[in-house]
Amino acid sequence: MVPSFAGGRADQIRARLEGSAYPREKIDKYCRLVERIEKELLPHEVIVNNRYTRWFESGDFDATELRHFVTQFSVFSNFFIVAQLLKTINAPTLEAMHASKEILMNELGVVFRNPEKKQQTEEEVEAEGTVNGSTFRFSSAHFEWLLRMATHLGLEFKDLGKRRHGTPTTLFFCDELARIYGAEDTSTALGASFAVENWAAAGFWKELIRGLTVFKERECPNLPLGFFTWHDMVEDQHARHTWDELEEEFFAHDKVDEDKFIQGGVEMLDGVLAFWNGLNDDRLARETSHRAAS
Ligand SMILES: [Fe+2]
Repeated sequence: MVPSFAGGRADQIRARLEGSAYPREKIDKYCRLVERIEKELLPHEVIVNNRYTRWFESGDFDATELRHFVTQFSVFSNFFIVAQLLKTINAPTLEAMHASKEILMNELGVVFRNPEKKQQTEEEVEAEGTVNGSTFRFSSAHFEWLLRMATHLGLEFKDLGKRRHGTPTTLFFCDELARIYGAEDTSTALGASFAVENWAAAGFWKELIRGLTVFKERECPNLPLGFFTWHDMVEDQHARHTWDELEEEFFAHDKVDEDKFIQGGVEMLDGVLAFWNGLNDDRLARETSHRAAS
């Protein structure tokens, strides 16, 4: 058997970049950043051990729990738009502004258009493509997908998406998104974006979908899950590119401050964790009070 080369990601990247036109100093800097990401960002609790989504996956929850979850998710979903707008405004280059606007406009209801397909029907929802030259529809806003799902659970527009509906931990997460993901400082914002992408790619959409499918089959056969299945589909495609994108961004910018990048990433993940731990504490508190009542 040929022993496999057990070099880390940084070693592999160094070997690949050594023959490139990039200056050695910059390659060293990038490899150092990669090492720190693997040590300080990726093992974060919210990436490796999200207790709420792991529990949720079983589908062992009632409609009250699901209403609480959907309400908190609707607040995050709405305030993500604020953070994405800030990210767009603070974009360091025109290309970065365009990339940011793709996400912002799609979130608001401009469907991705696949330039290779001539005609796209209203029902076709692309997970890739561009908003440029595409069509806006109120009904394609991600918030409205969530609203349509929520109406099957007895929730209405007035029950969703506002600050007043958020718990303190949900609001903390939303505010951290605006502060860090939407930061003016490019290194901080880059770290936060990379962290958020790796959290999203870690599989929590699939855990949610599995739990929701169990609930749907058991209690609510018409429950539309499009909001969750679509995001999972996008994530699957995106997860393959996060490292390539980081490399591109790193070498496109004159100065990426390693400390600010890592700090932005860690603080952002702490914000994400606060959101999920808040939900987990809420459901544990509900279980305890149920037990006390029975
Ligand atoms: Fe979305």
